[in-house]
Amino acid sequence: MEKTMRLDKFLCACLDISRKEAKELVKKGRIQIEGKTVKKSDQRIQTETDTVLWDGKELFFEEFHYLMLHKPAGVISATKDRQERTVIDLIKESYKEKLFPAGRLDKDTEGLLLLTDDGELAHNLLSPKKHVEKTYFAKVLGKIGQEAVNAFSEGVPIGNGETAKPAVLEIIDSRQEESKVLITITEGKFHQIKRMMKAVGSEVLYLKRISMGSLSLDETLPLGKYRKLSNDEIQKLKEETC
Ligand code: URA
Repeated sequence: MEKTMRLDKFLCACLDISRKEAKELVKKGRIQIEGKTVKKSDQRIQTETDTVLWDGKELFFEEFHYLMLHKPAGVISATKDRQERTVIDLIKESYKEKLFPAGRLDKDTEGLLLLTDDGELAHNLLSPKKHVEKTYFAKVLGKIGQEAVNAFSEGVPIGNGETAKPAVLEIIDSRQEESKVLITITEGKFHQIKRMMKAVGSEVLYLKRISMGSLSLDETLPLGKYRKLSNDEIQKLKEETC
């Protein structure tokens, strides 16, 4: 992050306003730095240490944005689409156009989706080299037994000549008609969980991602809602993928 920045640029970034509007705020005496009302919008500020007030409210510069979305079924993991509603359509923030989903969930999958404009973090989270664990809760067709657990731990064939890397399958509840399981994988191949369940003779009926690395879905978030990641959550994700 830039340690010093022109005041007008800082104001534009924090308040999502134009350069002209930023200059206007300064001119009207509505901006204070370190307790003093400033006159010049081209002066430089220390982004990490200077206290900048706008009408008495402190402004904080965020280089990147990180939102945790509880994705509902029925929206696609894309930024724009002519026909379908996208995950970005659920966001109300002024900076929403900059965001993209870090990885994809199928249209009918629910759960944790990170939306960010931090390309480096998104790239690292998705890189197969980083082995970031993703855990899914699934309702699947039929009984699931130890054979499936063993097959997952060895890596199952998922079609198109591909084999899934060893994964962890935990059985929560196994019944004749429907079972509940947790699956942890370190890759993100197209329809991966669905293809893995098919490989052991089952079928996914419902799928929800509950974690990605150290980041867990905030269960207080209703479907379709989002919140900012805490600094601690961002820090941990960066540390585990650097
Ligand atoms: N695996 C799938 O099959 N679908 C998803 O949305 C995510 C993982």
